[in-house]
Amino acid sequence: MNVQGKTILVTGAGRGIGRSLAVHFAGKGANVALLDTNAKDLEDTQDHCTQLGVVARSYTANAANEDSVVGALDAVTQDFGGLDGLINNAGIVRDAMLVKVKEGKVVSKMTLADWQAVIDVNLTPEQRDRTNDGYVAVYRHVHALLRDEVAIAMQRAA
Ligand SMILES: NC(=O)c1ccc[n+]([C@@H]2O[C@H](COP(=O)([O-])OP(=O)(O)OC[C@H]3O[C@@H](n4cnc5c(N)ncnc54)[C@H](O)[C@@H]3O)[C@@H](O)[C@H]2O)c1
Repeated sequence: MNVQGKTILVTGAGRGIGRSLAVHFAGKGANVALLDTNAKDLEDTQDHCTQLGVVARSYTANAANEDSVVGALDAVTQDFGGLDGLINNAGIVRDAMLVKVKEGKVVSKMTLADWQAVIDVNLTPEQRDRTNDGYVAVYRHVHALLRDEVAIAMQRAA
């Protein structure tokens, strides 16, 4: 797929799969908007992408916070003049059994705070994509078009 000159937003771009996706698309000539809560990590990803000759900008924002996301999206739209694709990658892991029972006794529980954090970061932004209209719906469409490219980049990250 030709993404040359397109603008792609990657959430969770500070490290891991998000960084790998950002660098992958930058290597194919896409300009990248990089969103993460970690400003320092974003700087490193931005450097990697810029070295590939594309425009890369960082946005320190929380994907689980509506005001934060809207503010970042406004800035992205202003800086790049629009957006062609979204990779909704930001996510956290708080693996735990809801309730762990040993020999008839509850030995541990997943805290409500951990449960809520996972729902807020991993699920709520996806739901917003599905329920909103306007440019967020466009993201979802483009996201589907990018699926093969995402699979390739993820294989490289593994
Ligand atoms: N690594 C795996 O094997 C694996 C497997 C299945 C799914 N995933 C999913 O892929 C995604 C990336 O995985 P990874 O291994 O690269 O994770 P990672 O923890 O290495 O990186 C996640 C990045 O997202 C950022 N982030 C976390 N919460 C955020 C928030 N609220 N707003 C903005 N940025 C936030 C972090 O700062 C970090 O830079 C996650 O959604 C993860 O659940 C990973």
